[in-house]
Amino acid sequence: MKKQFWSKSLAGLAAIALVFTFTAQVQAKTWKMSFGDAAGGTQWETGKKYAEILEKKAGGKIKFDFFPNGQLGSEQDTVNDCSMDTLDFSVLAVNNLTPFSPTVGVLTLPYVIQGIDDAVALTQGTLGEELAKNTLRDAGVRIVAWTYSGFRVLTNSKRPVKTIADLKGLVIRVPKNAIMIDSYKAWGINPTPMAWSETFTALQQKVVDGQDNPFITVNAMKFYEIQKYVTTLRYLFSLEPIIMSEELFQRQNPEMQKMILDAGKEATAYSKQWLVDTEDSIKKSLVEKGMVIDDAANGEKEWIEKATKAVWPKYYDSIGGKEKLESALKILGRSL
Ligand code: MLT
Repeated sequence: MKKQFWSKSLAGLAAIALVFTFTAQVQAKTWKMSFGDAAGGTQWETGKKYAEILEKKAGGKIKFDFFPNGQLGSEQDTVNDCSMDTLDFSVLAVNNLTPFSPTVGVLTLPYVIQGIDDAVALTQGTLGEELAKNTLRDAGVRIVAWTYSGFRVLTNSKRPVKTIADLKGLVIRVPKNAIMIDSYKAWGINPTPMAWSETFTALQQKVVDGQDNPFITVNAMKFYEIQKYVTTLRYLFSLEPIIMSEELFQRQNPEMQKMILDAGKEATAYSKQWLVDTEDSIKKSLVEKGMVIDDAANGEKEWIEKATKAVWPKYYDSIGGKEKLESALKILGRSL
């Protein structure tokens, strides 16, 4: 009798649990997350971690679908899409956000960020908050997390580049980012602006000879199959924000909004550690795959002087005034 009672009760509980699970699944909203890069790079790691944290916090109310490799459009297109609420989330390089949010350009001025600690100091704290607010105002999207991806290194298929003079004659693809275009101009060449989503094919078909991106991105995109030479420039430390549709954010209740922002903080911390743990081994694996790495450090002074002298003053206005660069440098313990 007792046994029968318990088995009936257990069956009842199981049925209730099933109904709950089913209801949660039916009600779970699916949010789309776009990635400019292929799976396996820093964008992917941070984006997936962000989604995992948020799905858990939200207790099954939401789930994410992932679209790597620019499947949903170029990185710059996804900024428009998020601002129009036709896309939920995008993970993209900060240089592809800057055209829509000019003050963020302070993070892409050459040689401002000189390492991961500088990157953390500028993206978190008061400056980070100010840039996120400006991005909401200017681009209409909300930055919820940052990915730290390491310095962009120059790759090309033609020859080793050790000095500025070696650049001459190379056709280098750059993002459609005025600061980056001007950096190469300062080094004496006219780069080719091109969407990230078109870059692999352009390198493969030799429409362009080279490009720059971090080691981890070079690996995730399999550039080692089509590029041989790497130069470790340190002019730009790559940052890849996770942005979301502001309209989507505003449709959430305060509890969910808090979860969205908290998940961002946790994913940002995860990203820093992932880079520290992974970058060196990826660099080694690129050498094993046949890439030849040259350090620009010997003649780096010349690269630095040319780029900072020509580029920084040109962008004072768009970043919100010379004082914005001064205050960024002050945070880093440096001055103009
Ligand atoms: C670009 O070069 O356009 C981007 O930095 C690529 C990326 O998002 O990884």
